Amino acid sequence: MDSVLHGSRILPVLTVPDPATTHLLAEALAAGGARCAEVTFRTPGAVQVLEAMAAHGGLTVGAGTVLTRDQAERAVAAGARFVVSPGYDEEVVAECRELRVPVVPGIATATELMRALRAGCHTVKLFPAEPLGGLRTLRALAAPFPRARFIPTGGIQDSHLASYLADPAVLAVGGSWMATATLLERGDYAEIRRLTAEAVDRSMP
Ligand code: 3PG
Repeated sequence: MDSVLHGSRILPVLTVPDPATTHLLAEALAAGGARCAEVTFRTPGAVQVLEAMAAHGGLTVGAGTVLTRDQAERAVAAGARFVVSPGYDEEVVAECRELRVPVVPGIATATELMRALRAGCHTVKLFPAEPLGGLRTLRALAAPFPRARFIPTGGIQDSHLASYLADPAVLAVGGSWMATATLLERGDYAEIRRLTAEAVDRSMP
C-alpha cells in the first residue's frame, strides 16, 4: 500500500453525487496537494467517477466501500489502483490478490486484525476509528501486532490529524472532512481545495 500512497499521509474519502462533476473535484484535490483519493461505492455512478478520476491523472485513485468480488473487479477495471473495504471479507481480499491490486480491509477488533494479518494484509483500515475510541483504541490494538499499519478512518476531523499521524503505527489517515457531502452537494470546490491544502500541510513532518 505504501507504494500506492507515494508517501501521502492523508486519504480523502469521496462519495460523489454526480459523476459529471468529477473533474472539478479531482482538480480541487490535486490543487490542494492531495496525491491519492478513495472513491466509495455508495452511489450508482461510482464506476463512472472512478473512471473520470483515473483519467484526470493528477491523483492515484482507489475504490472504497468495496463489499463484493464483483465491485472489486469493476473498480479495478475502471482504474482503481487500490481497494478499501469497511470490513474484512475473504472474498474481496482473494479477488484483489487475483487482480494484483493492494487491498486495505477494515478491522475493528483484534480477531479481525489477526485474520487480516494471516491473509497477508499488513495495512488495515481501523473503522470506524473515532466511535471505536480513536487513538487510544488504535494504540491498544496495535501493541500486540508490531507489523500492522493502520489507516484510521471514520469520524476523523482535521483537528485529530496531527495526533494520529504522530503514532508510528499509523500509515495515513482517511476521511471525508476535506470533501464533505455538503460541500460536494453545493459544488464548493474552493473550500474543498482549501481544506485539502490545510490537511496536506498538517500531514507534513
Ligand atoms: C469511509 O467510508 O471510510 C468512512 O465513512 C469515511 O468516514 P468519515 O465520513 O467519517 O470521514
